[in-house]
Amino acid sequence: MHDIDNDTNILTEAILRYSRDRLRMDPPSLDAPCPPEELEAKAGQTITADGLGGEQALRLFTDILAPACISIDHPKFLAFVPAAPTEAATLFDLVVGASSICASSWLESAGAIYAENQALRWIADLAGFPSEAGGVFVSGGTAGNLSALVAARHRWRKESPEHRRTRGLVISSKGAHASIKQATHVLDADLLEVGGHRLTGEDIEVALSELATDDRARLFAIACTAGTTNLGIVDDMQAIGSICQREHLWMHVDGAYGGGGLAAPSVREEFNGVELADSFIVDPHKWLFAPFDCCALIYRDPSIAREAHRQHGEYLEVFYDGIWNASDYAHHLSRRARGLPLWFSLATHGTSAYTTAVEQTITVARAAGSLIEAHPHLELVTAQQLSICVFRRVGWSVQDYHDWSDKMLEAGDAFVTPTKFEGETVLRFCVVNPRTTIDHIKEILATL
Ligand SMILES: Cc1ncc(COP(=O)(O)O)c(C=O)c1O
Repeated sequence: MHDIDNDTNILTEAILRYSRDRLRMDPPSLDAPCPPEELEAKAGQTITADGLGGEQALRLFTDILAPACISIDHPKFLAFVPAAPTEAATLFDLVVGASSICASSWLESAGAIYAENQALRWIADLAGFPSEAGGVFVSGGTAGNLSALVAARHRWRKESPEHRRTRGLVISSKGAHASIKQATHVLDADLLEVGGHRLTGEDIEVALSELATDDRARLFAIACTAGTTNLGIVDDMQAIGSICQREHLWMHVDGAYGGGGLAAPSVREEFNGVELADSFIVDPHKWLFAPFDCCALIYRDPSIAREAHRQHGEYLEVFYDGIWNASDYAHHLSRRARGLPLWFSLATHGTSAYTTAVEQTITVARAAGSLIEAHPHLELVTAQQLSICVFRRVGWSVQDYHDWSDKMLEAGDAFVTPTKFEGETVLRFCVVNPRTTIDHIKEILATL
């Protein structure tokens, strides 16, 4: 398996050819999932004692498995939060895979961590964080939110040792992502969801005034959202940040989706107050054009995160006097240098190209908002926010929404899924792909 022979050479060419061709598809075919029986019938048992050989295994992927995966970079994939990695970033992902880097410690991977830290610094500067801020790239927003709240709980218990066994409490908005609730579940803490769609300072003041003394003592963090997944709403971080400072509460900002908007001057003001956060996440695999999986997790004071997350062991002692051990800043040890594709693309194109690309998606989302308002059968259900539009098709039942969505996917035309707004089934566009054009939006709207 580890020898390089003629088969290996043929396979190398085939894989590089496939990767190049897939990257150049504009647009890629949308593709769609299929039932397990269909995959079973087509692919059968793929792992055997003697192996299929690389060429056949690759054919299984290209002809059967890949077409059963939706292409998230298709310009009419507007469901959930899509992704649109730059070609430079995806190509460099191949390089990262080929380079066998374990990006845990400075000892093992100084060069990779140096470059990742420059990409993190760009994001920290966009957010207005101090020069000592720093962190690490983790797999996604879910991992980032959890690791940040672990650090928050560590500070609380360190400063109040009497709470070593107390169950903690976190406050968030009702629009916060499910991963915040999941993080509190993993931490065995409670979550108090307050306010409306946008968390305001007043919501926090009211919540604090209504907390029983014991509960106030258990409260260790406020989790704000900078761009809710469903509606694109940015919480009032300025007001919440001041309260967190006054009350000595950890302010965490989940910008997994919306954080990319920091690069866009036209919406930057909405993020004012993010600079007050103790921890902040943004997923470059969402709106900053990196391939999966990539979440930037940044702490105002990384020393607290280091205390919370560093793993100790005899064989790890050689790590500890390292300059910056990426493994110290989240719940992980071995790690892929997953920030490098973003770094390479930033180094290649420069940060202005990112500003242009994020603004382009916002322009298309705004145009989509206007087209929806002008459409005889459609109504926006909230104002268009960041790069999201949420709207109803007047007269449609819940089933109509699902049928339409399924039909569009089956036809290989577009992927737009229903969501809910205050209990009502509606539709939602999330535009993060600079290849999504106003004409693509018009084509979708024409089917409604
Ligand atoms: C605001 C927000 N937070 C967290 C997440 C979870 O991110 P991930 O899927 O990368 O774990 C998402 C995903 O869409 C999100 O939009």
